[in-house]
Amino acid sequence: MATTCDEAPLGVKTVVVPAAGMGTRFLPATKTVPKELLPVVDTPGIELIAEEAASLGAARLAIITAPNKQEVMRHFDEFPELVATLQSRGKDEQAAKVERAAKIIKPVSIPQDKPLGLGHAVGLAESVLDDDEDCFAVMLPDDIVMPATVLEDMARVRRELGGSVLCAVEVSREETFNYGVFEVEDTDNDNVKKVVGMVEKPEPKDAPSNLVATGRYLLDRKIFDALRKITPGKGGELQLTDAIDLLIDAGEPVHVVIHHGTRHDLGNPGGYIPACVDFGLRSDKYGPALYKSLKAILASYEAEHAAE
Ligand code: UTP
Repeated sequence: MATTCDEAPLGVKTVVVPAAGMGTRFLPATKTVPKELLPVVDTPGIELIAEEAASLGAARLAIITAPNKQEVMRHFDEFPELVATLQSRGKDEQAAKVERAAKIIKPVSIPQDKPLGLGHAVGLAESVLDDDEDCFAVMLPDDIVMPATVLEDMARVRRELGGSVLCAVEVSREETFNYGVFEVEDTDNDNVKKVVGMVEKPEPKDAPSNLVATGRYLLDRKIFDALRKITPGKGGELQLTDAIDLLIDAGEPVHVVIHHGTRHDLGNPGGYIPACVDFGLRSDKYGPALYKSLKAILASYEAEHAAE
């Protein structure tokens, strides 16, 4: 029997994962390899997201896919021949790694023919939601947010205050031009703010705060009506930020939970490299040797730049 929203532990049955972007910041790698498949140590970002969604008790991973990025869905196939070959050679650990993705969660592909923007991508997910799903989560595979329990906090806020709940991190004012920035009012919980406006990638002098959106959203189903109303915004794309702003204008409750843990942005090399180092250092297998290598690299780098 299908899980209903009420049965899903956090009331979230579907996690939408927009993965149809062009990945231009990762060219030339993304000419042929979708950025969602780039490995963090040995595991692609899309598999890390699937694990996070499953750990929240979601039943369905709705992946927005582009025509030239079919390999993203293929990652969730079963690969029986490869598994059999590995097992016949005694490589059981590797076989288990191959089998893992297909066992995590039920993936569903939603095609997006053209990269018209994150707002357009999320709007396509309406077709897979069941009638009883009054909310759903969006997880951007570019963003790693740890601990993953932040969505549990967001679900708690939705239960208390209703509406949509987003995840915010604090950045320096100079960095705000890279993000969707929240205009907020205090609530009686220091970690929860009421959102009164949202601006996509403002000039630092125009930024209403230094609280910026990170890739976790718990959205009320009403977002689809707002998404139908928006027109192309920043960068000529249909922006999710603009639809959230419409919800706020219509008086719908929108709050943010401030995330104080780790956050990595896998969407550009400048964020991806530290993520690999962070995960690598924490790996039993690679951590100790990586730690030594990094110290040697830093020592030689510092010696080279000592005179500067
Ligand atoms: P980004 O803007 O960070 O991803 O979108 P991008 O467009 O792939 O990156 P660049 O700027 O060209 O390097 C945030 C998320 O939304 C998805 C992306 O795949 C990414 O996970 N997205 C974006 C879509 O699914 N469809 C779109 O039309 C745009």
